[in-house]
Amino acid sequence: MVGYKTKMVERISLPAREQRERNLEEAGYNVFNLSSDDVFVDLLTDSGTGAMSDRQWAALMSGDEAYAGARSFDELESAVADVMGFDHVVPAHQGRGAENVLYGTLLSEGDVVPNNTHFDTTRAHVANQGAEPADCPVAVAHDPSASEPFKGNFSLERGRELVDEVGPDRVPVVIQTVTNNSAAGQPVSVENTRRVREFADEIDATFVIDACRFAENAYFVQQREEEFADASIADIAHEQLGYADAVVMSGKKDGLVNVGGFVATDDADLFEQCKQRAILYEGFPTYGGMAGRDVAALAVGLREAVEREYVADRVEGVREFGELLAEAGAPIYEPPGGHAVYLDAGAALSHLPDETFPGQALVCELYREGGVRGVELGSFAFPDTDRPELVRLAVPRRTYHREHFEHVAETVETVLEKREDVRGLELASEPEMPEIRHFTAELEPVGP
Ligand code: F0G
Repeated sequence: MVGYKTKMVERISLPAREQRERNLEEAGYNVFNLSSDDVFVDLLTDSGTGAMSDRQWAALMSGDEAYAGARSFDELESAVADVMGFDHVVPAHQGRGAENVLYGTLLSEGDVVPNNTHFDTTRAHVANQGAEPADCPVAVAHDPSASEPFKGNFSLERGRELVDEVGPDRVPVVIQTVTNNSAAGQPVSVENTRRVREFADEIDATFVIDACRFAENAYFVQQREEEFADASIADIAHEQLGYADAVVMSGKKDGLVNVGGFVATDDADLFEQCKQRAILYEGFPTYGGMAGRDVAALAVGLREAVEREYVADRVEGVREFGELLAEAGAPIYEPPGGHAVYLDAGAALSHLPDETFPGQALVCELYREGGVRGVELGSFAFPDTDRPELVRLAVPRRTYHREHFEHVAETVETVLEKREDVRGLELASEPEMPEIRHFTAELEPVGP
């Protein structure tokens, strides 16, 4: 048996209700504008918010800060080779930096890019190259109550329809995101990855896996895909990622660090091109925007992420959080994802019309009621896409304990008791790029 004990603590507090009311108003009903000191349980994201292990902190101290040829980079390279199976690594300051490097290299104006579902930064980076992001989730992904094992899968039917519509020449890249963050953190089967590999080969496209949560995905595969019931998490991860031509990675998720990311590939030409672009946007290719110490901690984190004890504790902890919420009467997206539980705000606040952002209204109520911060991933975050009104409660890795999750469940229960009083919201101001408006837009309550 393996577990953890706590070595360092951080004090948190719940501001008084009037203060929370004021904070919400001052934040323009956008919780990205709240100060984290005013948040009691912060489930905004699982990205870069987790606790590092003692082994990672130790690696941090021995990080090599050399501009070129840093030893810490060698450690990262060997961790990526061992854990993910790729020989070449281009580090970046975080996932979206790696997206800029990779998609800036692979895409041009007029291209169309299928992905099981684009995460917001992926969508924005594809669009930023003048290309068109096209989501290809399986139909069941948008059904919060269907209890299927791999609701994160890529729909090959949709992908092939798309190629028929636009022609294969306009589809140079196919992406698969594991787990599928924008589809409630649902996993992708290895079988589906194999089929996407075939699809990419048919149209001569580069197959990219967005591997942010590859270890959590591998755990689901072990639990749910019969062929892999006896395989290790490390072997499953290695096999699944091995079908891709390149992976794009945010170390802030299954790299178990607070910052960092990379592109990895076996393709020497692609590596060279990415390296040149990385020098322009990220830094010299042995640090890529990270401090040497962060590179060193990432090398250790990648290896820890595929340890069975770690990832089982992680994913089962999220599942138990889902159970607490369901017991509190919350309509949750079933089954819970690997890094988060998603609330079905459309069902929870069914009296609010979609154009008044029921998801964002629920996010605001959770803060007002219990100082809990979640994030809307519905029509506010993804304008002009057809998806359920979800609110994500993301669980930072190795950070919160049962009493925090109980507090969140009680908060949700109280909000639901008063649901008829919850008002919808309307936009008061929004930035230019619709793909990223939810980070900075401000809202106000609808009506008197
Ligand atoms: N791809 C996926 C699937 C992601 O979930 C994220 C980040 C990124 C790429 C970009 O990585 O943040 O390191 O630049 N997701 C975070 C989230 C922000 O809250 O889900 P990044």
